[in-house]
Amino acid sequence: MSLKGKRVIVTGGSKGLGLGIVKRLCEEGANLIITYNTGDITEAKACAEAAGVEFAAYQADLSKDEEIHALAEKLASYDDIYGLVNNAGICLFENFFEVTPESYETTFNVNMKSVFFLTQKVTEQMVKQGIKGRVVCFSSITALSGSATQVHYGAAKGAVSSFTHMAAEALGQYGITVNAVMPGPIPTKHNSAYLALESSKKDLCGRMPMRSYGDPAYIADAVVYFLGERACWTTGTTLPVDGGYLAK
Ligand SMILES: NC(=O)c1ccc[n+]([C@@H]2O[C@H](COP(=O)([O-])OP(=O)(O)OC[C@H]3O[C@@H](n4cnc5c(N)ncnc54)[C@H](OP(=O)(O)O)[C@@H]3O)[C@@H](O)[C@H]2O)c1
Repeated sequence: MSLKGKRVIVTGGSKGLGLGIVKRLCEEGANLIITYNTGDITEAKACAEAAGVEFAAYQADLSKDEEIHALAEKLASYDDIYGLVNNAGICLFENFFEVTPESYETTFNVNMKSVFFLTQKVTEQMVKQGIKGRVVCFSSITALSGSATQVHYGAAKGAVSSFTHMAAEALGQYGITVNAVMPGPIPTKHNSAYLALESSKKDLCGRMPMRSYGDPAYIADAVVYFLGERACWTTGTTLPVDGGYLAK
């Protein structure tokens, strides 16, 4: 178990894909720090306790500039962080003409700005400590497939994919890798109302070679791969885990 005893941060570890990652990392024996906003962290904490791994949690609203920077400082105060999983994200389903400066800013702050500054601060500390760490970001198939009601979200996720290869370039010299997962449709709070619609099921599942929505465990496996020793020569890449959606 190459992650045993290593300290890994999971943003948005309270539910959805983040909670799936927390569960998988508990199996791997990683020590966990999760961040959350309004969610309930009881399940994440219980998993960590059952697995006997260390657990800490920090609340921050990543739509707010000052809370991004305050959280980045807190996380960077640890001197043994090995992994940062930038999973927290938000998708506001809005028609293009309904997007406001406020909803644009929320979308970009949570999905992109927090990723930039948490990664900057945490990897600066990794460099100081000589830790050849791992960063895993979260893009989305929406960045490539397009959606009339997710223009700001897709643009932010496209920026995350670009950030991933740019940060890989900046951090490779220190032995730190930066990769991203690009999930396909997986029912979570993020999108459950939309994915439950018969029209969405028909359209999305009909298009995917694998013909079904995904499961948080599939994403957690990709994250664990990127965090692991065996991914030491993989950096700057964005991996679709999408039932083949983008292959169509
Ligand atoms: N599910 C999918 O089909 C899918 C597809 C493509 C990409 N993704 C990406 O995968 C990641 C996880 O999505 P998910 O489906 O698991 O969504 P989710 O179930 O809605 O969970 C989102 C997580 O992000 C946190 N978060 C949201 N707004 C926040 C804010 N303002 N400040 C701090 N944390 C905030 C939430 O924290 P609290 O609960 O504590 O508020 C929660 O832990 C996201 O980056 C998303 O864009 C998901």
